[in-house]
Amino acid sequence: MTKLKQSNAMWGGRFSAGPDAVMEAINASIGFDKRLARQDIAGSRAHAQMLAACGIISDSDAEAIGEGLLTVLSEIEGGTFQFKVELEDIHMNVEARLTELIGAPAGRLHTARSRNDQVALDFRMWVRDQCDAVEAGLLALIAAFLDQAEAGADMVMPGFTHLQVAQPVTWGHHMMAYVEMFGRDLSRVRDARARMNECPLGAAALAGTSFPIDREMTAEALGFARPAANSLDAVADRDFALEFLGLASICATHLSRFAEELVIWSSAQFRFVTLSDRFSTGSSIMPQKKNPDAAELVRAKVGRINGALIGLLTVMKGLPLTYSKDMQEDKEQVFDAADALMLAMAAMAGMVQDLRPNRDVLEAAAASGFSTATDLADWLVRALGMPFREAHHVTGALVKMAEDKGCDLPELSLEEMQKVHSSINQSVYDILGVYNSTASRASYGGTSPDQVASQIARWRGALA
Ligand code: ARG
Repeated sequence: MTKLKQSNAMWGGRFSAGPDAVMEAINASIGFDKRLARQDIAGSRAHAQMLAACGIISDSDAEAIGEGLLTVLSEIEGGTFQFKVELEDIHMNVEARLTELIGAPAGRLHTARSRNDQVALDFRMWVRDQCDAVEAGLLALIAAFLDQAEAGADMVMPGFTHLQVAQPVTWGHHMMAYVEMFGRDLSRVRDARARMNECPLGAAALAGTSFPIDREMTAEALGFARPAANSLDAVADRDFALEFLGLASICATHLSRFAEELVIWSSAQFRFVTLSDRFSTGSSIMPQKKNPDAAELVRAKVGRINGALIGLLTVMKGLPLTYSKDMQEDKEQVFDAADALMLAMAAMAGMVQDLRPNRDVLEAAAASGFSTATDLADWLVRALGMPFREAHHVTGALVKMAEDKGCDLPELSLEEMQKVHSSINQSVYDILGVYNSTASRASYGGTSPDQVASQIARWRGALA
């Protein structure tokens, strides 16, 4: 056979000129898809073994390919691998180096495969690995919130609506609200992982292959539940990345909400909590300052993660089946979003571990703003048999009276209260305290220390 001079090692047969420099620049993805090297090599090794098992290539070729790929991997991990832009992407960089290392057998690796199913496989495995990392990060974060909740199960603080004091709640209850949120994030990442766990390898370019391959074998070797059932969908689908970004956005939103609370709570005006020095910074000009920078950055990370979600949704929208090069733009934003989420979760877990709630400040704040007014209205209903609407009205009048006097509800005398409603008696004072208030809210999921303790136990049991 005559050796043809080629403008490109992979497809030069039909080309007479090499690419323009700008073409090379816009076309190359090696600058970022080198992050898929480990997945690419694992996929290729499984593919080669399957080709041999099915009699499509010889055992000795498969062995040479498998060994050669391990050498490539160690070069990449050791930092000695030379990535080449002219080889466009990770797939061709690896294959070209394999050819240098083992010669002719390397040319058989791409039998019954295309870069379309190859990249779909690599990226899917990468996102699947990230799901595992996010799961571990969430478990650490939830553990930190559980510890905070346990330590402060009966500590009181103001519960807010509209950032106005509403009713006293327990610190433990507030922490457990985040356990619920991150718990849903955990279930979302597990769901997404299970759904994405179908192997696209063997879809080849788009239509499947005429070679007698065994897709079950590669799927199993690579830890997938099953091969993807439609070859067109297998190469065109990026739902797994979208779902990952969706759950990342929701999780980052949850992180940003607690980050915002930390920023507010650590301010001199609130003094609800003290952040550790480990997660704060000083000011170059104002010596007294201790800034909650980590909390602010966690609050901000959601921006780039949401951006990645919208970015990829926009890339995928309207793309005809099956693969289009547009889809090369799927990776960078997912990489960036995954990095940002992992960092934000780790920073938040550290901040929560170190967080010191200021018990006295929280207790005083819990009693402020007539926070037990609802307890008073409920007492009027329970003790005096008043309809709730009337009780609401009477309580409103008592709040107004206290406000005019510049005092809190428990500081009104019985005579003063009886001016508003003559049947009010001494036992009203039993329910105006914040600890009575929180202890009384013992309905399922309520703020009472007992309820909080049982929710902590339920979560500890579920995560054990
Ligand atoms: N670098 C490409 C990507 O990330 C790999 C797939 C190329 N496939 C193709 N038909 N040109 O999408």
